Amino acid sequence: MSKTDSIDYRGKTVVISGGSSGIGLGIARHLAALGARLIVLGRTQAKLDDTVATITAEGGEAHAYAVDVRESAKIGEVLADCKQRFGGVDVVIAAAAGNFFAPAERISPNGFKTVIEIDLIGTYNLFWSSLSALNKPGAVLLAITAPQAQRPMPAQAHACAAKAGIDMLVKCLAMEWGALGVRVNAVSPGPIAGTEGLAKLSASPEIEKFVRDATALKHFGHVDDIARSVAFLCSPNAGYITGSILDCDGGMRHGNFISL
Ligand code: HXC
Ligand code: NAP
Repeated sequence: MSKTDSIDYRGKTVVISGGSSGIGLGIARHLAALGARLIVLGRTQAKLDDTVATITAEGGEAHAYAVDVRESAKIGEVLADCKQRFGGVDVVIAAAAGNFFAPAERISPNGFKTVIEIDLIGTYNLFWSSLSALNKPGAVLLAITAPQAQRPMPAQAHACAAKAGIDMLVKCLAMEWGALGVRVNAVSPGPIAGTEGLAKLSASPEIEKFVRDATALKHFGHVDDIARSVAFLCSPNAGYITGSILDCDGGMRHGNFISL
């Protein structure tokens, strides 16, 4: 085994939007346990305080900024501050998202726009603002996408459009910024137990069963499944992987959603 086969984030600074709950929190805790310094972004100060306290209690290092990913100027200020305080950033993860379960006739134009702005434009805001703060070459950008990007799903027109946009954005930025020494990838989680995202999709026990049965593995995933995939993709072990979507979804992207 060569030295690079073991995953080690000591000396690395990681910025993550949406790192204060659910999947993002799981990623933040996992990377902190591997030695990274975590910078967590979210809107709610109390959730950020809890996250910093949790990671610190686990022996890691974490800092937080209360910011909305839709506010591009403020995201720019946060990344500039990170560069000054921490000497640059090595990994940037866009995990913040918003979703709700609604058939298209009940998604108002503002509802549609809201999800596009948080998921797709928020990801662009974060990645674009990061570019001047990244420690290049060797920096990594990673987006959290969803099976909705690859499959039309009922009551998910807004999320499907937003996540499909993220997948293509990842591929475009990978092609444009690869020469700068920046890799750009995404992880696509399936339904992850105990998360807000799954709760929003499981409006009834019947729908929850339907979603579980839509996976090939017939069970929900765990936040650690996603955290481990992210840790790999953002490590030197994945040094020749860019413009890729890693499906960590129990096969959900192949599932049947027509009768939902
Ligand atoms: C229809 C809705 C709605 C609903 C909100 N809207 N909820 N429309 N059905 N259930 C509409 C509102 O009526 C409004 O439009 C517009 O959306 C904006 O609503 P606000 O409440 O003002 O927006 P905001 O406060 O910015 O909140 C954004 C949010 C909220 C997305 C609506 O739920 C949020 O902050 N979510 C973050 C947490 C989250 O969703 N986590 C899950 C991520 S999981 P009008 O026209 O009335 O003004 C995920 C994918 C999971 O992304 C995939 C699983 C496989
Ligand atoms: P979650 O628990 O609701 O977490 C969302 C996080 O994003 C929170 O930290 C939230 O904090 C933050 N956030 C939301 N809107 C924001 C905004 N406008 N600006 C800044 N931060 C914002 O969600 P989750 O279910 O774990 O999902 C996390 C990611 O995984 C999302 O990208 C989601 O699309 C994806 N995903 C989830 C599943 C699943 O099964 N859960 C499946 C596939 C993909 P604040 O509210 O304090 O801002």
